[in-house]
Amino acid sequence: MTTVLKLGGSIITEKEGVEKIHEPRLGKAVGMLANADISRLVLVHGGGSFGHHHANKYDVSTTDGTHDPDAVLDIHEAMKRLNEVVVHRLNEAGVPAVPVHTLSTASRDAAGALTLGTTAVETLLAEGFVPVLHGDVIAHEGKGVTVVSGDEIVTALAQSLDADRVGLCSAVPGVLDAENNVIPEITSFESVAQALGESDATDVSGGMAGKVRELLTLGAPADIFGLDDLAAFLAGKSPGTRIDGRGN
Ligand code: IPE
Repeated sequence: MTTVLKLGGSIITEKEGVEKIHEPRLGKAVGMLANADISRLVLVHGGGSFGHHHANKYDVSTTDGTHDPDAVLDIHEAMKRLNEVVVHRLNEAGVPAVPVHTLSTASRDAAGALTLGTTAVETLLAEGFVPVLHGDVIAHEGKGVTVVSGDEIVTALAQSLDADRVGLCSAVPGVLDAENNVIPEITSFESVAQALGESDATDVSGGMAGKVRELLTLGAPADIFGLDDLAAFLAGKSPGTRIDGRGN
């Protein structure tokens, strides 16, 4: 059983500040991970006030690139600082976490398609470690480097590792309908397109519509839930919104 779990940047950092960890929420997530009885777990975390602040400064996004090495280093090193904190906190709590930096293992072709090497992740898993990847900057053919989001990494990892379970722990308790109620299950995009208020197939901003569309293409069910439900997800339950496009 392989599980891929993303901790959103808005969970573990204070999005408003600059490079500020949200200690209570990170501590809570780490505590739940330390108490979970789960094998073959891969973690991915977002950027929050570490990555986005620096990416915005240089106008770098998943589609707008840069050839400026200062920009690459600024964004990558900020993400490494966040990754280092996450990995250390996990180890202090007894989780055998080790860092994997996406810049060194992934790239995009000219059309923007992502290729993520997973041999190191697979070997680390087999050896009993918990690899911890993060949103990053990566080489992008014709554009220098662009941002790769944690969500994109989750999708790519889930596919190449043939994951059984995928979880996105985010600032919201699930995918919300027009009345702000959590939608328990999504099996097709059409059924929720109106509620999500977006149907643009090219949405790469990480917005909820794009997230749902991408997760529907996975060969595994994906759950989107808030921090309070992380323990339930780790215990094998399916809190928040379950996204399962396998019947399509
Ligand atoms: C962003 O990753 C990474 C960088 C800006 C370098 P994500 O887009 O996954 O981050 P969050 O979860 O939204 O903060």
